[in-house]
Amino acid sequence: MKYRSLLTLAILLSSFVGLNTATAAHHEEGHTELGEQMEVIGKTFRSLRRAVRDPAKNAESAAMVGKMLKAAKSGLDHEPAWKAEQPAGEQADFVANFKKEMKVFVQILTDLKAALEADNNDKANELIESLRDQQRSSHKDFKKPDED
Ligand code: HEM
Repeated sequence: MKYRSLLTLAILLSSFVGLNTATAAHHEEGHTELGEQMEVIGKTFRSLRRAVRDPAKNAESAAMVGKMLKAAKSGLDHEPAWKAEQPAGEQADFVANFKKEMKVFVQILTDLKAALEADNNDKANELIESLRDQQRSSHKDFKKPDED
């Protein structure tokens, strides 16, 4: 009996150590949950910027924006890693502002998808420019400076 509880304890402890190590590695690589969605957004945005130059590819481009939208919406369920380094009294505002900005992001993506579906490439190019501006300002506000 005693051995059994010791064994249980040992298993419990080792699984905690395993969990902590996994979590640390996760953050060291910069792959937070939000970071993973951002990776999808970043890669898709790069292909989108190329595809959008060719109006014959508008359906393909609209599908890429759909993928970015899905990632942006699930990003809304997570919080920026930088939150942990904000003063305790400012963390709630930090997260609220992040969510507000993510909603603006979702709105621009929604408009961009509609513009591509309507074959309005001038409008699409304008919206892509505003996405780039928003990326710059949001990363300055919410993304930990030592990550890139
Ligand atoms: C077209 C627009 C955007 C692109 C292409 C983009 C791309 C990226 C990329 C490639 C990363 C690094 C991911 C990693 O390696 O972990 C990242 C991180 C991040 N982005 Fe964006 N992003 C965009 C818009 C935004 C917006 C609008 C916000 C906030 C409202 C935002 C907030 C963040 C944050 C907070 C991180 C750090 C991850 C974390 O804290 O967990 N990004 N982004």
